[in-house]
Amino acid sequence: MTYTLYKPKEQLKPQGLTNISDAQINDHWNLYVGYVNNTNQLNTDLQSLIAQKASPLLIADRRRRYGFEYNGMILHEYYFENLTSAAPQNPTNNLAQALQATWGSIDAWKEDFCNTGKSRGIGWAILYGDPLTKNLTNHFIMDHENGPITHFKPLLVMDVWEHAYMVDHNAGGRANYIQAFLENVSWQTVEQRFANL
Ligand SMILES: [Fe+2]
Repeated sequence: MTYTLYKPKEQLKPQGLTNISDAQINDHWNLYVGYVNNTNQLNTDLQSLIAQKASPLLIADRRRRYGFEYNGMILHEYYFENLTSAAPQNPTNNLAQALQATWGSIDAWKEDFCNTGKSRGIGWAILYGDPLTKNLTNHFIMDHENGPITHFKPLLVMDVWEHAYMVDHNAGGRANYIQAFLENVSWQTVEQRFANL
């Protein structure tokens, strides 16, 4: 078994955001790099354990980590990619029409997405698209691995683990952080993801 090693996608790192400081992003970025390293380590560990014919229980326990480490890496890449310092305030074009058709208005979608992000627990708020029906739905994903829908495409990904806002907004600041997040959405990126659905 051989694996291509994953590397942090430096080109995705946002800087100069509104109400999300570079210090916050830098701190968060270091955690993302940890997921990249751990994903590589997990593949290496499993390769080694299987070659050693280690205990099936030990191998199974390691294998259970795939969802956490892989989604931890990939969801952060979606997250950083959909942030920009030159953000328009609202989506346009086909995505705007689809959000309006689903929720009635952009503001109604935003309210539902904010409430999704305020769900109790650590995780992610994700606007998903269903490639089959083109349906749009807001989801809350616990940790990184509890709730992603196989073959649905993440269109907008918002990290609501406390580490995503502790530097700027303290532990009780999730609502303020969510408002700040929405001021920095790269709708161009989200619209491209929707076009590729
Ligand atoms: Fe995070």
